[in-house]
Amino acid sequence: MKNFASSLNKKNKFLILGCGFSGNFFAKTIRHLGCTALTSSRSENNDPNNFVFNSENGIIPNKKIFNGVTHILSCIPPDKNGKDPVLGSLKNKLKNLSLEWIGYLSTTGVYGNTGGDWVSESDAPNPCQKRSQKRLNCEKEWIESGLPVQIFRLPGIYGPGRSTFEAIKNQKVRVIAKKNQVFSRIHVADITNAIIYLLQNKDSLEFHQIINIADDEPCSQIEVIKYCYELLNQKMPKPILFEDAKKDLSPIAQSFWIENRRVSNKLLCEKLGYELIYKSYKEGLRNCLLNI
Ligand SMILES: NC(=O)c1ccc[n+]([C@@H]2O[C@H](COP(=O)([O-])OP(=O)(O)OC[C@H]3O[C@@H](n4cnc5c(N)ncnc54)[C@H](OP(=O)(O)O)[C@@H]3O)[C@@H](O)[C@H]2O)c1
Repeated sequence: MKNFASSLNKKNKFLILGCGFSGNFFAKTIRHLGCTALTSSRSENNDPNNFVFNSENGIIPNKKIFNGVTHILSCIPPDKNGKDPVLGSLKNKLKNLSLEWIGYLSTTGVYGNTGGDWVSESDAPNPCQKRSQKRLNCEKEWIESGLPVQIFRLPGIYGPGRSTFEAIKNQKVRVIAKKNQVFSRIHVADITNAIIYLLQNKDSLEFHQIINIADDEPCSQIEVIKYCYELLNQKMPKPILFEDAKKDLSPIAQSFWIENRRVSNKLLCEKLGYELIYKSYKEGLRNCLLNI
């Protein structure tokens, strides 16, 4: 790992609520650094470090899980009513702990559509999708909770096991062309590494409650797909115009194409000095290729 000024305090105990793609990567990395990390999922599994938390059926973690917890990372999306599942079930419990820090993974969807313009943390959120309004509501709930929360706004997350390579392999890739349309993205390792960098350098860096974690190079989806085919030494299928492809897309897939924005990482990478591991999709995809 790079970017660390010092090693993390090994006495830190992390709870990773929602151990999906990003949570799992974070938990593994933080354990490598010597910290304790327990993770949650909605149902039992064989991992001895995992416990069950499911706001949908009211299963909350046993009291013992919270003993000595210093840090929490929530990777759980809003529930169907737009409420935060963690705060809804555990707010009072969390308030009684001596927490140093809570990280909340949010989305850059809260910025809405900028017609391709850059957007940063100082821009007012302007969500245009229902799910992004729910997300903004959860951010507000966290901020108003009075807990020591830091919010990370993320664009499309990819990494080993979840990238365009898997879409190609599973014949799920759609090569769609839409003029001037760009997407921002972030490699899962940079989410973890940036958060750990901020924790490691907490005492010397100015605190920001909301931080974007995005790579340097928002670009069209076609560019990314083309690069994957090149790396695979295969020919990319002919692009379909968005207007023609639209009718076959699910409402959720269509909704991603309605928004067009470039997410700025200047706060994280210039002001706070974080150095991305994967500056663009090219470096990131070459890493993913090693794992397919
Ligand atoms: N994927 C993206 O491109 C993207 C982009 C921007 C932001 N985000 C947001 O960033 C966060 C992390 O993303 P991700 O893709 O790593 O997430 P993910 O893989 O979908 O994992 C989500 C986790 O939340 C848990 N969960 C969901 N609903 C829950 C509930 N009601 N009660 C308890 N646990 C619940 C899931 O439990 P199980 O393990 O049991 O399924 C899972 O562990 C999410 O909030 C996501 O919406 C994602």
